Amino acid sequence: ARTGTIAIRGRLLSFDADPAVAGEAEAVRFIEDGIVVVRDGVIVEVGEGPAIVRRLDPGTPLVDHRPHLVLPGFIDPHLHLPQTQVIASYGAELMEWLAKYTFPEELRYGDSAVAGEASRFLLDTLAANGTTTAAVYCTTHPVSAEAFFAEAERRGLRMIAGKVMMDRNAPEGLLDTAELGYEQSKELIAAWHGRGRLEVAITPRFAPTSSEAQLEATAALAAEHPDLPIQTHLSENAAEIAYVAEAFPWSKDYTDVYERYGLVRPRALFGHCIHLSERERQVLAEKGASAVFCPTSNLFLGSGLYDLAASRALGLKTGIATDIGGGTSYSMLTTAAEGYKVLALQGQKWPAFEAFHMLTAGNAEAMGINGKVGRLAPGLEADFVVLDSRATAPLRRRMERVETRAEELFALMILGDERTTVATYAAGRRIYDRYQGGPRQLA
Ligand code: GUN
Ligand code: ZN
Repeated sequence: ARTGTIAIRGRLLSFDADPAVAGEAEAVRFIEDGIVVVRDGVIVEVGEGPAIVRRLDPGTPLVDHRPHLVLPGFIDPHLHLPQTQVIASYGAELMEWLAKYTFPEELRYGDSAVAGEASRFLLDTLAANGTTTAAVYCTTHPVSAEAFFAEAERRGLRMIAGKVMMDRNAPEGLLDTAELGYEQSKELIAAWHGRGRLEVAITPRFAPTSSEAQLEATAALAAEHPDLPIQTHLSENAAEIAYVAEAFPWSKDYTDVYERYGLVRPRALFGHCIHLSERERQVLAEKGASAVFCPTSNLFLGSGLYDLAASRALGLKTGIATDIGGGTSYSMLTTAAEGYKVLALQGQKWPAFEAFHMLTAGNAEAMGINGKVGRLAPGLEADFVVLDSRATAPLRRRMERVETRAEELFALMILGDERTTVATYAAGRRIYDRYQGGPRQLA
């Protein structure tokens, strides 16, 4: 996109590495008065504000967001487009929740107008929360994914999405077949993959809703497209795991089912990964796949507690996601806050720097898009979230006693939500501005 040059000034925060691995001094890049220079949607320079201001061409638009924080846009590696009206449905564990609330709602998404309206709501809401990239499950209906991609493209967003494949254990109107799932995915890939900032994910919903024939077709699809992202669910709930053991009696464990069909590989995103054995974690790690931690969903559906320490011990990459609408918040700050509590219940610590790394560069790495987004660095795409760590009365009051950056970020993550978003940028264009009271009207 040719949008010319602009400069954005603020308190810059970005991560060159995972602070848990490299240490804070190596990993954290903070500039108290910094500027990011953007040309045609791409970051061309990041540095000290006063020095860059002196060198900027006169006439370059400069947006001064000080004293607010400027971070890479948040990345949400797991959520469901058709579940914005399923969120906050009462009283069920995973399998009942799917049957009672989710599948009936997903039936509506064969209508492209329904999917288009939901896509606009979802992308408006993500922008208001500072999320600029997501990995999105649509429904079985190809029109649901087409509507989503069209809306994402209009906004200039980097997005990953897929048409769900499922050929059993759901209502007739939501089922495809092994052949149809393969063909429709192929068509979606041909039409949308690599168009602008969009990528298609190979999306078998999870093993319980695919026959072996469909998983074989999915294996062929994956082999034909070795660089594509893959997204599915793994080891979320006890009844689900028991069903997989029964439906695939030859399998060593749940992960083995996906492994058998060549789906455990780099850029494969496995949602939940709560009840994994050591062997499963090892296989996922060795094959370069990623686990996606969905804390609000895991608490809401009573699924269990994600063990970050166990993943780290084996080198299994972890991302963190909202999982709308099993999840209960669109905010990545709230998601991180609930993640902190899930880890606290297991005696695990999660400093704010590590959390903010995961929301940005860590999620980008889990999705295999770390060369594109997730950091404030030259050559990366200009997606930013601007955060006000004094946006609410509870935050302002807490900040009076904050002494370090780590304390500020921790309070921001625990108390922050969409009210903390000052502005959101995608490819250098402002897509949300709180002073305009909502998402900016796009031309
Ligand atoms: N497993 C299979 N489908 C789903 C879904 O839509 N939500 C969650 N949380 N788990 C799933
Ligand atoms: Zn999910």
